[in-house]
Amino acid sequence: MELRDRICVVTGGASGIGRALCQRFVAEGARAVVVVDRDADGAVATADALGDRAVARTADVTVEADIEAVVERTESDIGPIDLFASNAGILGYGGIDVSDETWDLVWSVNVLAHLYAARAVVPLMLGRGHGYLLSTASAAGLLTQPGDAPYSVTKHAAVALAEWLAVTYGDQGITVSCACPMAVDTAMLGGGRLAGEGAEGFPVAAAATAAAAVQGVLSPEQVADAVVEGVRAERFLILPHPEVATFEQRRAADRDRWLAGMRRLSGSLAVDPGPSGASGPARPDA
Ligand SMILES: NC(=O)c1ccc[n+]([C@@H]2O[C@H](COP(=O)([O-])OP(=O)(O)OC[C@H]3O[C@@H](n4cnc5c(N)ncnc54)[C@H](O)[C@@H]3O)[C@@H](O)[C@H]2O)c1
Repeated sequence: MELRDRICVVTGGASGIGRALCQRFVAEGARAVVVVDRDADGAVATADALGDRAVARTADVTVEADIEAVVERTESDIGPIDLFASNAGILGYGGIDVSDETWDLVWSVNVLAHLYAARAVVPLMLGRGHGYLLSTASAAGLLTQPGDAPYSVTKHAAVALAEWLAVTYGDQGITVSCACPMAVDTAMLGGGRLAGEGAEGFPVAAAATAAAAVQGVLSPEQVADAVVEGVRAERFLILPHPEVATFEQRRAADRDRWLAGMRRLSGSLAVDPGPSGASGPARPDA
């Protein structure tokens, strides 16, 4: 699908990958881009910088009524939504001793928000016979994220939901893409947005260094380039770090060997995982 003349909604548009998607969609000639974020000032800043084809909407994606309101207002004030990008996401910062409250929050942002978006827009898109759902999951959703159990589990769920939507609605005019980057140079990698307890102890500098050392950190703009190319091709899996495809194949081909490699890699990272601690994004092909 080409973005020209399309009406797009992007959650998490105040920062990082979401902001880069908004910028790139406008540059591609989108008719309107709705910048959604719980960070009201950030959403306005993104939209203001993009001129009169972008509008800001404050919403908490974990609140279904907020997403419904964004969809209803976009459809009534601007027009039919062509593409809904569920991009907002957060880390969990820990392992098995992360609290239930944090698990619930990470699940809500990384998975339920994608469900709420689908509930709100799929009936409208089915009625029109076309529409595009884009979700930002993560390479952690295909592989794993050492040191962050909630993130790994919820990103797997985000990929699973996107696949289910593609299987269920793909023959009815709805196209689904799922972006699964590894490390990207955003506030998330720098630890600027926090999910819950323990975040202040997250060794972000070590994580960023480890990520840069093993597979390279992309800019949000590079991810946006990959997303636009993937949407143009209507490809389900969008891999801004192409090597993720190889890692996923190795994981599927010999799970025990892959797990052993991941254990070696986790152990070699220069961070202390502790009982719940986090380590950096890691390349799982060791
Ligand atoms: N940065 C990376 O290395 C990386 C790698 C793979 C996948 N991702 C994924 O990319 C997506 C974007 O992350 P980013 O790196 O740009 O992070 P970011 O922290 O720069 O941006 C995330 C945005 O989401 C918003 N947000 C968080 N919770 C929200 C909520 N409840 N309601 C509304 N908005 C909310 C934040 O305010 C922020 O503007 C996430 O889904 C993330 O998991 C990031």
